[in-house]
Amino acid sequence: MDRIYLDNAATSWPKPEIVYTAIDRFQRENGAAAGRGAYQSGQQAQRVVSATRSACARLLGIADPSRVVFTANGTASLNLAIHGILNPADHVVTTVIEHNSVLRPLEYQHRHSDIELTHLPCDGSGYVDPDEVAVAIRSNTRLVVISHASNVTGALQPIKRITRIAHEHDALVLVDAAQTAGCVPINLDDLEVDLLAAGGHKGLLGPLGTGLLYVRPGLEPKLRELIQGGTGVNSAAAKQPDQLPEKLESGNLNVPALAGLGAALEFLSEHSTANIQRHHQQLTEQLISGLSQLPNVKIYGPNSTEPRVGVVSCSVEGYDPQEFAAALDASCQIECRAGLHCAPRIHGALGTDQSGGLVRFSPGWATTSEEIETTLQAISALSS
Ligand SMILES: Cc1ncc(COP(=O)(O)O)c(C=O)c1O
Repeated sequence: MDRIYLDNAATSWPKPEIVYTAIDRFQRENGAAAGRGAYQSGQQAQRVVSATRSACARLLGIADPSRVVFTANGTASLNLAIHGILNPADHVVTTVIEHNSVLRPLEYQHRHSDIELTHLPCDGSGYVDPDEVAVAIRSNTRLVVISHASNVTGALQPIKRITRIAHEHDALVLVDAAQTAGCVPINLDDLEVDLLAAGGHKGLLGPLGTGLLYVRPGLEPKLRELIQGGTGVNSAAAKQPDQLPEKLESGNLNVPALAGLGAALEFLSEHSTANIQRHHQQLTEQLISGLSQLPNVKIYGPNSTEPRVGVVSCSVEGYDPQEFAAALDASCQIECRAGLHCAPRIHGALGTDQSGGLVRFSPGWATTSEEIETTLQAISALSS
């Protein structure tokens, strides 16, 4: 029995073959630090990092690759943005759909820097109403933070409208693109957000241990670095460099993983995010259509024609979500995630907080229609 991996919203697996090859080759044949020694392998390591940075910029419609800062994961990117941009007594508008990687840094700021917080509600599918943003904004609103897509219901938010409203009121916009980068075409030139955070290991198909933060041109003087140290440039200066990406990238980068991310981006550019999105959509439709025929299963989230990503969550009558996921794994080696998915507030909004959350299925680029069919049969057998 082969494993059926349906937890791509946590991290994507498998990776394209060229990702494994690139990591292995870099480790064996190079292994040098980037931006440090001037010897040939060091220069080559720096070229690997620059090529990956440029590939990220191309994929996300960013004109200047130096606006892409590498981090360890989406959480690190969100922390960098939130703690770096807020000042004491600022007001922040965020939403109940957010992941703890947004909620907890904001809560920390609330407790330690008197930041005021507004958590906007969502509807029964997980959509946030942009008009609520306009109502919530105050004279001291510094930042609007919102997930591009919910990691629980898959609802894709109207970021462009929200950004327009925030900018009309001089507030900055930070988008958590954890569930959309690589899954949905993103053009930052068009979206005009100020900051965008993503992991490199989910839809971007790179290895764990990679993440990025996009910083809009001109914003870096307002964005404090959280870590100071060696950057390989301006070494004689006592002060941290002001320019990007160095200002926000102290210490050695994870070059082997960035070599892998670079290969993943090559794969994405060859196959196109739009094609991958179509593939996710087909599998999502199949999942929703199959699950909706099962009498003891209730789906939470948008239907398959509404704006969404390939994350489908449901409850199963008579089962605790964790027990159901464990049963799927034990009986058929179907791997999905159950619980609150690190997004506790949305479960309050959906009414699933008291029942242990939901069971979530998130197919990926390599998931097949046959695997979804096997999964639906297994869910049907267990739930009836
Ligand atoms: C919406 C959302 N934001 C942030 C994160 C955190 O990303 P990372 O695991 O890369 O730190 C996740 C991960 O599941 C997520 O789904």
